[in-house]
Amino acid sequence: MIQKKSVEVCLSPDLLHLYQLEGKIAVIVDILRATSCMVAGIGSGVARVIPVAKVEYALAYRPQGYILAGERNGEQVEGFDIGNSPFEYMKPEFLDKTIVTTTTNGTQAISKSQDADQIIIGSFLNISSISDYLTGSEKDVVIVCAGWKGRVNLEDSLFAGALYDRILDGYESEDDSVLVSQAIYREAKHDKLKFLQQSSHVLRLRRLNIGNDIEFCMREDEFDVVPYLKGKEIIKITI
Ligand code: MLT
Repeated sequence: MIQKKSVEVCLSPDLLHLYQLEGKIAVIVDILRATSCMVAGIGSGVARVIPVAKVEYALAYRPQGYILAGERNGEQVEGFDIGNSPFEYMKPEFLDKTIVTTTTNGTQAISKSQDADQIIIGSFLNISSISDYLTGSEKDVVIVCAGWKGRVNLEDSLFAGALYDRILDGYESEDDSVLVSQAIYREAKHDKLKFLQQSSHVLRLRRLNIGNDIEFCMREDEFDVVPYLKGKEIIKITI
């Protein structure tokens, strides 16, 4: 009998101590908006994205001429070149450039997942590329949702369910978080935007007039890339 790979969903980085990442692929997910930005940037020709946990770590890269990006509570960090919108990451002038980013949750989730064998960056914008990559890999998977300051959020859980729905034939799971995510996805899949209308971060971003980003981040397969963390840099996997 062929041994199936295992898949788990960690609904918040604060729950990571309950999961073993060693030997596994961690798919980091911050749909609104950090991992969507990284995918949009790498997919549009940005050479590399360096995720860091703190504002001062990002500022330390300033002398190297890198683009500083990021937000706290959804708003651009003062003195940084750009905020955390996927449209900013897709600027033609950023082709072949390096972006250093720090965000409230997404870059924290990456730095807390360092025990994984491999860290890859997931979003709806590259969901088919990610599911194809996982299907072709032999490793077990943990989908790590960035959430909001330790709390579970709806959009990352929804994505976890969508990804699971695409790979389930090759995987087995005894993790109820997978079932929760799958149930959310099955309820939401016909109109993701409508389903997310009352979610906390959608409300937060709408208060900041960032409606366009929400709509864009829900689009599927805008980019055919699998960004992954190599050392300190996110670059694209060349298959
Ligand atoms: C985060 O990392 O928390 C987010 O990407 C927040 C945001 O929408 O900018």
